[in-house]
Amino acid sequence: MGTFDTAGKQVEVFNYGVVRQFSIATIFWGVIGMAVGVLIAAQLIWPELNFETPWLSYGRLRPLHTNAVIFAFGGNALFATSYYVVQRTCQVRLFSDKLSAFTFWGWQLALVAAVITLPMGFTSTKEYAELEWPIDILIALVWIVYAIVFFGTIAKRRVKHIYVANWFFGSYILTIAVLHIFNNLEIPVGWFKSYSIYSGVQDAMVQWWYGHNAVGFFLTTSFLGMMYYFVPKQAERPIYSYRLSIVHFWALAFTYMWAGPHHLLYTSLPDWTQSLGMALSLILLAPSWGGMINGVMTMSGAWHKLRTDPILKFMVVSLSFYGMSTFEGSMMSIRTVNALSHYTDWTVGHVHSGALGWVAMITFGSLYYLIPRLYGRTQMANMRLVDLHFWIATLGVVLYIASMWIAGVMQGLMWRATEADGTLTYSFVEAVKATYPFYVIRLAGGLMFLSGMCVMAWNTWITVRGQTRVNPEVPLFSPDAIDPALRRPIMATA
Ligand code: HEM
Ligand code: HEM
Repeated sequence: MGTFDTAGKQVEVFNYGVVRQFSIATIFWGVIGMAVGVLIAAQLIWPELNFETPWLSYGRLRPLHTNAVIFAFGGNALFATSYYVVQRTCQVRLFSDKLSAFTFWGWQLALVAAVITLPMGFTSTKEYAELEWPIDILIALVWIVYAIVFFGTIAKRRVKHIYVANWFFGSYILTIAVLHIFNNLEIPVGWFKSYSIYSGVQDAMVQWWYGHNAVGFFLTTSFLGMMYYFVPKQAERPIYSYRLSIVHFWALAFTYMWAGPHHLLYTSLPDWTQSLGMALSLILLAPSWGGMINGVMTMSGAWHKLRTDPILKFMVVSLSFYGMSTFEGSMMSIRTVNALSHYTDWTVGHVHSGALGWVAMITFGSLYYLIPRLYGRTQMANMRLVDLHFWIATLGVVLYIASMWIAGVMQGLMWRATEADGTLTYSFVEAVKATYPFYVIRLAGGLMFLSGMCVMAWNTWITVRGQTRVNPEVPLFSPDAIDPALRRPIMATA
């Protein structure tokens, strides 16, 4: 079984070359992005770690961290899994090998440009959209080509039904294109300097419409696409409810778009806009939990596997964090809660419960499923290391977020405490001083999480370099091997 090129050499039915490249890039950038996260976490304890070099100053490294973990680690993982899933579920090769190769090299070029320009201090100052206009244009180009490859593959599919994971991936690709282009409309005044076309509160609103939907689509919808393919595969169970997946997909896509103003509570943004943002953020809990419940319930009948399968453990824990962080986010959108949490480390704790607990953990689980298959192995070279990774990562996240929650609530309470005569009980610096022990705990948690990432990198290396190819005569992936786990839901609605 297989396809042969003109020279009679067996070639892969699907384009896994580009999926392999993106998967390896995910691990590479994961180590870099998290290492920078650990460095800035350490700088908050020992500021002298900037070595008095502007390039290594906190203000420049922080956006480097966020860009590296979101767009390099997360982005590469999404390219890898969306290209894999769309081929598997549509039963065709990617629309174009050349264009998909362009997305790989174009994306890496944009990332390298970020690694150079951000420490140099070039920034448009918009959070998560700091890169300057020439890089923005490159990103827009890569993204449009990504859309052509992805939707082109869907268009030439051999299976009538479009599996739900593709809906999630498709919506993320479309939305990110719109967000990126509109938020980055700017007037260049030099090669590395531009001014946004928006100003004042409109600028803030557009920025957080972007920022929140970057969370909603780049860090959530897309990873739900990953979840909808890899959880049923690893659990060897069909998804719990196909109907629920469709309902929560549309509800999620609709609701996310309105929630941006919860980042701008108590600002000069009109009150009604803030209230609307708050109300829709509360409503957002329902579709978010729809996805979480669907993922967790897919485990029905497979719970016993958790005893022995560390990959499944990653997936279940990631879904739990998804449920937790979305609940927390909805609560933080309530004005009175936000009055306490805003500007504090509580927000940072919330971010990382979503980013480490949900985004990174579902990525680890999916890649541990994917990598052996991409390289013709039955499983990762050392499954005990996968288990070790699971435990150090889980403990790392818990240390990170618990310390930030406590620090955040403490800061909020200290800042608002007043004496009977109306003066502040604590000066700002006292709150900073009280936060130090929690920064140390966060650093320990971050170091654990980074060590887990390094363990994964090592395990991937020995898996890829290992000699034990399963059976070279039988390609693991033939177009006839329709995924049994996906068969039922596809048939149910076809
Ligand atoms: C070893 C793991 C990590 C460590 C030690 C770490 C550490 C940090 C630190 C110290 C900050 C700055 C907080 C502040 O300014 O007070 C930060 C911000 C941030 N990190 Fe991480 N991080 C890690 C992994 C990740 C991952 C995997 C993601 C995303 C997938 C992520 C996303 C973010 C975001 C979005 C922010 C900005 C938060 C905000 O503005 O509130 N981080 N991180
Ligand atoms: C129902 C879902 C969610 C809601 C309603 C929500 C709500 C919120 C709120 C109210 C804030 C604080 C805004 C502020 O005070 O400045 C926030 C910050 C943030 N959340 Fe969420 N959140 C949700 C899910 C998530 C998830 C799953 C992730 C990550 C994967 C995430 C990532 C972030 C980031 C990165 C920020 C920091 C933005 C910044 O200030 O730089 N959120 N979210």
